[in-house]
Amino acid sequence: MTTKVILITGASDGIGAAAARALQADGHTVVLIGRSPTKTEAVASELHADSFLADFADLDQVRRLAAELKEQYPRIDVLANNAGGIFDQQRTVDGFERTLQINHLAPFLLTNLLMETLLASQASVVNTSSAAAKLFGNINIDDLSNDNNYSPNKAYGDAKLGNILFTKELHRRYHSQGLSAAAFHPGIVSTNFAHDTSSPMRIIYQSPLRRLMRMTSPEKGADTLVWLTEGIPGDDWESGEYYVKRKPAKTNAQASDAALAERHWNISAKMVGLD
Ligand SMILES: NC(=O)c1ccc[n+]([C@@H]2O[C@H](COP(=O)([O-])OP(=O)(O)OC[C@H]3O[C@@H](n4cnc5c(N)ncnc54)[C@H](OP(=O)(O)O)[C@@H]3O)[C@@H](O)[C@H]2O)c1
Repeated sequence: MTTKVILITGASDGIGAAAARALQADGHTVVLIGRSPTKTEAVASELHADSFLADFADLDQVRRLAAELKEQYPRIDVLANNAGGIFDQQRTVDGFERTLQINHLAPFLLTNLLMETLLASQASVVNTSSAAAKLFGNINIDDLSNDNNYSPNKAYGDAKLGNILFTKELHRRYHSQGLSAAAFHPGIVSTNFAHDTSSPMRIIYQSPLRRLMRMTSPEKGADTLVWLTEGIPGDDWESGEYYVKRKPAKTNAQASDAALAERHWNISAKMVGLD
């Protein structure tokens, strides 16, 4: 297997850290991106890997991160946009709803700022989405921050549906230039997920009830991420697709709306100052 240069966000914990461990064990060069300095440093010293910090609730930190990565890595084979979670309604310093920004706007900006390197590397972009896209997603394109219809679950479902629309639009815009993109759902995984929300998801994930949910381990949750990252687009998986357990899967009907994907991209670009 060819070894790759792999950037993973949300690598300080849960699915991202488990994927980083597996990929490093397979001989790849793994670059860890985290928010918490202590947690990120702990994984970096365990793996002897490079690490970078950015809080995705602050887009200037994402811009600084992109500049650092661009400077340091002339080749990026895979960008795994994995950082995310469900949070309560709050505005970021950039003025956007927090769950939308951390799960969608920040990785959207990071990917676009790295686009030159990603295209030159014929890279893959792997986006960690969720079954929540289907369960809770119902995007109102004129109200991406859900100012008029907010609940933590809807904000999260919309943001994860946004990851799939982003994947499809990345494919449409850039696959002919050699870039590939995929999104996936990792399963119901026992991690630090939902530790910072009033959504009932917190009870499911962060109380003794989690034992009843038969959650999967972070290592198993990372399986599809590792498979997409190590795989060859076109041979092992199809660019523009959404996967569950290594198989193409059905998701929210809005994910197949190409006009919505294009508008979602254009509005996101305007929000993060890329238009
Ligand atoms: N667990 C599940 O059942 C499940 C199901 C479907 C999808 N997912 C998705 O899987 C991905 C990984 O989640 P997980 O389950 O591994 O949860 P986790 O253990 O809470 O890990 C989340 C990662 O995202 C990072 N992160 C959170 N807020 C951030 C911010 N403001 N800026 C930058 N990084 C931030 C965290 O950094 P810190 O360590 O500093 O907090 C951590 O590294 C997420 O996108 C989540 O939505 C999870």
